[in-house]
Amino acid sequence: MMRKVENFDLSALNTFRMKAACACFVEYDSAAELESLDWDSLPKPVKHIGEGSNLLLTGDFPGTILHSRIDFIKYVDMGFDEVPVMVGAGVHWDRFVEETCGHGLWGAENLSLIPGEAGAAAVQNIGAYGVEVKDIISGVVCYDLKDRKKVKFSVAECGYGYRESMFKHAEGRYIVTSVLFRLSRRYNPRLDYKGIRQALGLEEHVWPEDLTPMKVRDAIIGVRRQKLPDPEELGSAGSFFKNPVVSALDFAHIIDVAKRDFGADATVPHFINPDGSIKVPAAWMIEKCGFKGAVEGGAAVYEKQPLVLINKTGSASPKDVLALENRIISAVRDRFGVELHPEVEHL
Ligand code: EPU
Repeated sequence: MMRKVENFDLSALNTFRMKAACACFVEYDSAAELESLDWDSLPKPVKHIGEGSNLLLTGDFPGTILHSRIDFIKYVDMGFDEVPVMVGAGVHWDRFVEETCGHGLWGAENLSLIPGEAGAAAVQNIGAYGVEVKDIISGVVCYDLKDRKKVKFSVAECGYGYRESMFKHAEGRYIVTSVLFRLSRRYNPRLDYKGIRQALGLEEHVWPEDLTPMKVRDAIIGVRRQKLPDPEELGSAGSFFKNPVVSALDFAHIIDVAKRDFGADATVPHFINPDGSIKVPAAWMIEKCGFKGAVEGGAAVYEKQPLVLINKTGSASPKDVLALENRIISAVRDRFGVELHPEVEHL
């Protein structure tokens, strides 16, 4: 049943654990309930969130926060190698991953333990360990707030890129209600990301027949736990910044800076994209600017992974986080000439 609450405290609905409230909070159980909402009566603006795991609440929100509880996982046809699975937008992401791995289906295992929900995963194009969710999506079903009707988008129409989709640029027009995934019974582990083979105890290029999606999932969970804070224990929103993609010319400048500041032997970690552009880990730049463990009020840069900002004391304010964010952006710009962009959405 639909739940509507005025002056709702959002503290439990954001993994950063910022204290903030919204004028109105609406939670619904089905697409039909969503469509039946009296939109004109809701305080504006209207913003849809998932589990608030990629969100920085910068203060009280004057409008309406919507949250989906559309919760189903439907195996459309288990009869073939390719298995279509329809998933409600409100399904806890890792429940979907765990369940499908349990059925021996390949596809989602590298995306294990990512916080959040299925609908937000499709908006955000979550990615980890060499896989992005777009790789296993066939289509996305939405409610179109402008034309007030159900619409379906093929994966090509979703405009996916690195942590990007057309949904992010549609100004809240589309609310995802369900996502159609394409998983596979066929043996298909993706182990090329550094550290995964090691975590599985495999030699280079040896793929034992008994590898299962669940075994890969367990290895991924192990790798994540070593590096990333558990949102249950320490408030954070995962990676705070995107990894910048630079031109060859800009990359040459970064190498010059590294040699100047860190010695003639200094090297810069990087990954070359198919189009020749170069991805430089933001975590490396942040660390080289001296921010590992840096503190600002109650907020801090996570020691084990400087791409993650944390609510260290549990009572960090949005001001603390924003101040730390700005310090990091300025320092990286001044030293490397690179502009960092937050990955976490600011509300
Ligand atoms: N990289 C590769 N291949 C590798 C290793 C790294 O392409 O074998 C690239 C990564 O794509 C990234 C850079 O090298 O551009 C650094 O990789 P690292 O493993 O250090 O990860 P990261 O940059 O700290 C990113 C994601 C994480 C995700 C990990 C693992 C972002 C902003 N963050 O972090 O996602 O878990 O890779 O894949 O892209 C999150 O978004 O909240 C998050 C935790």
